[in-house]
Amino acid sequence: MNTTPPTDCRAWTRIAAHAETWRHARIGELLQNDPGRAAAFVAEGAGLKLDYSRQRLGGLTLGLLAQLLQERGFEDWRAALLEGRVVNPTEKRPAWHTALRAGEAAPEEVKTALGRMTQLAEGLSGIRRIVNLGIGGSDFGPRLVYGALRAQRIREARFVASPDPAALAGALEGAEPDSTLFVVVSKTFTTAETLANAQAAKRWGAKHFIAVSNNVDAARRFGAAEVLPMPEWVGGRYSLWSAAGFAAFAALGAARFGELLAGARDMDWHFASAPVPKNLPVLMALIGTWNVNFLGCGTHAVLPYAHALRLLPAHLQQLEMESNGKRVDHRGEELAYATAPVVWGAEGTPSQHSFHQLLHQGTQVVPADFIDAGLDPLLSANARAQADALALGTQDPALPPHRRHPGNRPSSILALPGLGARALGALLAAWEHKVFTQGVLWNIDSFDQWGVELGKKLANDLLKGGR
Ligand code: F6P
Repeated sequence: MNTTPPTDCRAWTRIAAHAETWRHARIGELLQNDPGRAAAFVAEGAGLKLDYSRQRLGGLTLGLLAQLLQERGFEDWRAALLEGRVVNPTEKRPAWHTALRAGEAAPEEVKTALGRMTQLAEGLSGIRRIVNLGIGGSDFGPRLVYGALRAQRIREARFVASPDPAALAGALEGAEPDSTLFVVVSKTFTTAETLANAQAAKRWGAKHFIAVSNNVDAARRFGAAEVLPMPEWVGGRYSLWSAAGFAAFAALGAARFGELLAGARDMDWHFASAPVPKNLPVLMALIGTWNVNFLGCGTHAVLPYAHALRLLPAHLQQLEMESNGKRVDHRGEELAYATAPVVWGAEGTPSQHSFHQLLHQGTQVVPADFIDAGLDPLLSANARAQADALALGTQDPALPPHRRHPGNRPSSILALPGLGARALGALLAAWEHKVFTQGVLWNIDSFDQWGVELGKKLANDLLKGGR
């Protein structure tokens, strides 16, 4: 597979030259001069619709970016991902999260695990509350899925990541040991924060524990009666589809979780088969890379216009920044170009009364993704109005400077067909594929996270040494 730097690709040089000609391009004029743009700059996949007509790019830009992707050997890399071959060379592992949602085509071990999860969930009649103990990828995904679909829950779930005792205490308010199930999720079963919370749960008098881990011996030594598998070939931030999602699975029911997997599978199929100009996650990746590397935007805002999706920015922050926050390439060479932007955001609408001032009139240009689930006319109108205001600004020269909006700030609107489990699955899978595609463009390992290890080691040393 191609591991030469993207800057060596002919397309990179051509895109850089092309970007110069776009220096003075205005999104408002692009929309005005091409009445077909709003309809043409749209991609649909797995029920999702991406409107990227307010991005600062044209058809030629996308064509050149697609050439870059081809030169980078994207098709080989994508096949390797989907076939479960090694795409994480520093850890010599596949990143086969797509196998977890492959339905009938899934490997036997995945089907067996899903069968066991269903049996366990059916036997929880006396359990009224599930408490997930995990951190990072063992927390964000299941927490987001449960939070987004909570209205359809069959029992309560709580999620504890922080080792601050206040977090566990809050999750246990009103809970009784007899009717509370703790799900300890840790791929390594060595993560200090999760183990501290699991021990604190024991001290509280916990009676029911299930572990989800790749380190079965350690989980058994801890005393978990049942250890559900977290295969070595799935990365933490891609693991919500596995037994790592058991808290959400048991709280929402197997059928609902099955819809989530089906939505992700729809998106996997779209990602695998749609041509680049119509491939929704690939376009998200190309647009993001254009904004980072050629328009010089260092951050990216994610703005879900749905209260149920308020945890989405936190999940995507880990997904994008832990995956693509890298400074060396596959050959170990330091990069001469930027990789992942700083991803941030919050629930749209409340955010308008907070940081959108900076988005509209600040000195930095922040590309944004507005996520519109069509839940309410006011929410959809707000998302659309914000995107238009950022793109078009105000042109009235009679306005005093402080009232002027410069506009020309790029954004996309990603529309979901409501907020069912299937749409959510498709959304999360789309983002995973966007991140993977950008990793291919940037020639980096998107599936390791060596950067977090140093801090862990230093904290352990400090604890041991009592400094
Ligand atoms: O510290 C970061 C990290 O390694 C994440 O990648 C991972 O999701 C999280 O820690 C938790 O790890 P584990 O599941 O092994 O407890």
